Amino acid sequence: MGNGIAHVFAMTGHEVSLIDVSQPALDRALNTISKNLDRMVAKGSITETEKLATLSNITTYTDLKSGVTSKELVVEAATENIDLKLKIFRDLDEMAGTDTILASNTSSISITKIASVTKRPDKVIGMHFMNPVPVMKLVEIINGYSTSKEVSDTIFNKSKELGKVPVIVNDYPGFVANRILMPMINEAIITLFEGVAGVEEIDTVMKLGMAHPMGPLQLADFIGLDVCLSILNVLHDGLGNPKYAPCPLLVNMVTAGKLGVKSGEGFYVHTPGSKDLIVSPSFKK
Ligand SMILES: NC(=O)c1ccc[n+]([C@@H]2O[C@H](COP(=O)([O-])OP(=O)(O)OC[C@H]3O[C@@H](n4cnc5c(N)ncnc54)[C@H](O)[C@@H]3O)[C@@H](O)[C@H]2O)c1
Repeated sequence: MGNGIAHVFAMTGHEVSLIDVSQPALDRALNTISKNLDRMVAKGSITETEKLATLSNITTYTDLKSGVTSKELVVEAATENIDLKLKIFRDLDEMAGTDTILASNTSSISITKIASVTKRPDKVIGMHFMNPVPVMKLVEIINGYSTSKEVSDTIFNKSKELGKVPVIVNDYPGFVANRILMPMINEAIITLFEGVAGVEEIDTVMKLGMAHPMGPLQLADFIGLDVCLSILNVLHDGLGNPKYAPCPLLVNMVTAGKLGVKSGEGFYVHTPGSKDLIVSPSFKK
């Protein structure tokens, strides 16, 4: 997600510090950005000069402090782990300028909780980009309990500058996107678990019947079944309603290491370089 966010900021003329603890991750990120820009040049949506200008707007850092010095906005997109995010925000609060807005791209962690470890909760906000960032138009902006109106307006306008469509929501478990998406994915898994229909049938009904570009089981594989499980647990714990309880089949698949695209198998088998949709042998009739 970090490379996509850097891509859209750099392409709209912002000077970007791309920060990661891992140098190989930074090298991979620059390579991905360059390849994605090449694709845009090939399609005629940007020129070669614009590609080079975009790349020249990005500087990489493995040191947080050097990267955030004199920046007006930080968009954190590190691994989805609450302890890690709280540590990063404590550090950012110390290292970034006092006026710097601290945003998080978290999919499910409370913005109010993240803000609570800083001395500037009014300047902490959620800026939830969708994957793939250069393609997807939505930015779900999440106002924490103490986020100021001024900061919310600034991030709304900044998202428009990036060519995105911002939507402002309040900070409750799952925000809006995942509060609605994850129960749908969970229901698709329950439908499979109860033997109502097979993987292909469920995805075909949702693709052709509801005009979804991808069926919910295929989408779950792309998001990562571990990520889906963790977001459902956030909804279940945070809202206290049994309707959010993760399907036992999802729990079993994650325990077995069947995580979807990232592990090579989930509801489908995923072979690098192939776009064929092959149902996993576990779900073949
Ligand atoms: N993947 C998605 O589809 C998606 C969509 C929307 C939001 N998100 C959110 O975006 C964030 C990142 O997701 P991702 O899928 O890109 O994760 P990822 O695990 O692929 O990448 C996270 C990166 O963070 C780096 N990192 C770890 N600790 C760090 C630290 N202390 N300082 C700097 N960098 C650090 C890792 O080296 C890694 O390169 C998460 O909060 C996730 O919930 C993901």
